[in-house]
Amino acid sequence: MKFVFFGAPGVGKGTMSIRASQEFKLPHISTGNIFRAAIRDGTPLGIAVKSIIEAGDLVPDDLTIKLVRERLALPDVARGWMLDGYPRTIPQAQALDADAAGYHVIDLEVPDPVIIERLSGRRMCLHCGRSYHMVHMPPAVPGICDQCGTALSVRDDDAEDAIRNRLSAYRMLTAPLVEFYRERGTMITISAENDADTVWNELRSVLAALMEDPRQQK
Ligand code: AP5
Repeated sequence: MKFVFFGAPGVGKGTMSIRASQEFKLPHISTGNIFRAAIRDGTPLGIAVKSIIEAGDLVPDDLTIKLVRERLALPDVARGWMLDGYPRTIPQAQALDADAAGYHVIDLEVPDPVIIERLSGRRMCLHCGRSYHMVHMPPAVPGICDQCGTALSVRDDDAEDAIRNRLSAYRMLTAPLVEFYRERGTMITISAENDADTVWNELRSVLAALMEDPRQQK
């Protein structure tokens, strides 16, 4: 089955979609992680998007759509996927519709002050893409990723100005997708304000029910 994890910066899309990917054994595909890996490795894609991402702006649609199209053509997606951070514009949603039928959109919602608190306390593993929070989700060994042992970093786009830009890009370009998907009846909104285990328990029940529903098997 195919799921899109949707929501403002910092709502917990990465945290929840990685848990879902591990639980339901479907590949986790994060456009943000793909861009950050390209920047870390200094590839032509990374060089093209570095300043855009650091400023908190959106990467142009043509580049992002092509990247996701190529990723979704790989053989590991045959049983479905957990897509994190894509689509985030109407043209991207239209492109995904053309490429993949019958996906569900999980819309995570939290109030803005919680978003700011989550992003300013985030530490990230740039190797495996896992997020931590200094207060709410610290790693077992301070500063080190539990999963792969890499030193954790602060993301460049978690600086105050970039957070402001990301929230404004979300409101202008991404929030219109809420209507786009609600009209279609395939968006499920979940409050992500509680602690991560509580949010995950609710989300896991929603995903499990969809997975077990024979009408949803596509
Ligand atoms: P991307 O990496 O997708 O960033 P984002 O959408 O801004 O989302 P974040 O990664 O900041 O947050 P999240 O919702 O995943 O939250 P997380 O789980 O980390 O994109 C980065 C950039 O790449 C974009 O700005 C853009 O430039 C570009 N880009 C990417 N996709 C694009 C696209 N489709 N089109 C164009 N450009 C694109 O959690 C946040 C923090 O909260 C963590 O510290 C976590 O530990 C903590 N936390 C999570 N859940 C909880 C909880 N329930 N309780 C307490 N703490 C929690």
